[in-house]
Amino acid sequence: MIEPSSKLPHVGTTIFTTIGQLAREHDAINLSQGFPNFDPDPALLELVSEAFKKSHNQYAPMQGVLSLREAISEKIERLHGRYYHPESEITVTAGATQAIFTTIAAFVRQNDEVIVIEPAFDCYEPAISLFGGKIVPLPLEGNDFKMNWSAFKSAISPKTKMVIINTPHNPTGTIWSESDMLQLQEILRDTNIILLSDEVYEHIVFDGKAHESASKYPDLATRSFICCSFGKTFHATGWKVGYCAAPKSLMLEFQKVHQFNVFSVNHAMQVALAEYLKDPQHYVNLGAFYQEKRDSFLTAIKDSRFKMIPSGGTYFQLLEYSDITDEKDTAFAEHLIKEHQLASIPVSVFCTGPYDKKFLRFCFAKTDAVLEKASEILNSI
Ligand SMILES: Cc1ncc(COP(=O)(O)O)c(C=O)c1O
Repeated sequence: MIEPSSKLPHVGTTIFTTIGQLAREHDAINLSQGFPNFDPDPALLELVSEAFKKSHNQYAPMQGVLSLREAISEKIERLHGRYYHPESEITVTAGATQAIFTTIAAFVRQNDEVIVIEPAFDCYEPAISLFGGKIVPLPLEGNDFKMNWSAFKSAISPKTKMVIINTPHNPTGTIWSESDMLQLQEILRDTNIILLSDEVYEHIVFDGKAHESASKYPDLATRSFICCSFGKTFHATGWKVGYCAAPKSLMLEFQKVHQFNVFSVNHAMQVALAEYLKDPQHYVNLGAFYQEKRDSFLTAIKDSRFKMIPSGGTYFQLLEYSDITDEKDTAFAEHLIKEHQLASIPVSVFCTGPYDKKFLRFCFAKTDAVLEKASEILNSI
């Protein structure tokens, strides 16, 4: 038997798998993992089925189907006023996860520092570690998870190669304002730092606010990889199709890695998505769709013992439970599954550093019936 020396000795089964398993064992309502329990638009499914029948069943171009890259370019220009050349500045990826991994693989070398704002989505850290990079964690502050820009400035060193940001933010549901983006732009100006901007929830922003894409800010755009996900936008997380936009010289390096670890992404899905994207109505109303779910969920639990600041974007809502128990969030999440048959995600699992706040993350991308049942349970605690 070979005894492999692990390149990621600290990485185990993800919390999503563990919680999912426990939820199944206890027949719990599952608001833990971030995906909808409803299907994509039948019109999109019809386009996919047509694309398969029209023989789009062999390799797609390495960068992605051109009509899809053109549709992505038009969307970004219309929404954020920045033109990305479809032929040289956009790549279709196997979900945002691959866009993120490939960006890190293309640039992070041994001992490079990468600033990660925590809590953070779980795929950043292992990718950075795999390429010998060093994580510099920067905690969001207070119970409203605000960014401390002077701490951010102090975290930058001559070794900083990359900064990873995520707005709208998983798991906290906070969104960054124009003022946040301008401060980020000012601090990064005159550096060679690459910005990886995880914007998978770009179309899920609430209360009349706008998504602040890094592509909107000229100096940020010159250094940014914008990573996005059709899975989140079109209720199709299982398709694993996303995209990445970056200036030509950066995208060239990205594609050097992409062409040898993925080469190309599901052809028929790309053809269907190119057609579907032609109608902006298919994504501009997504915020209103999820805001209705957020609002009915929060109204239903307003008299519970949980404290809540309404989520500003994403399909996640944090609930604070300090009035209920002193338990650590992992213990309380387990308790909720075993004793109340309700699954959520403890926020501490999104942190590499010490964390003792009392929040659980609930995914409200669920049908009204499921959210109602979950609300009844939360009200009974
Ligand atoms: C913040 C964030 N980034 C990236 C991803 C991954 O997106 P995809 O499913 O397109 O790979 C997710 C999925 O949950 C996410 O929440």
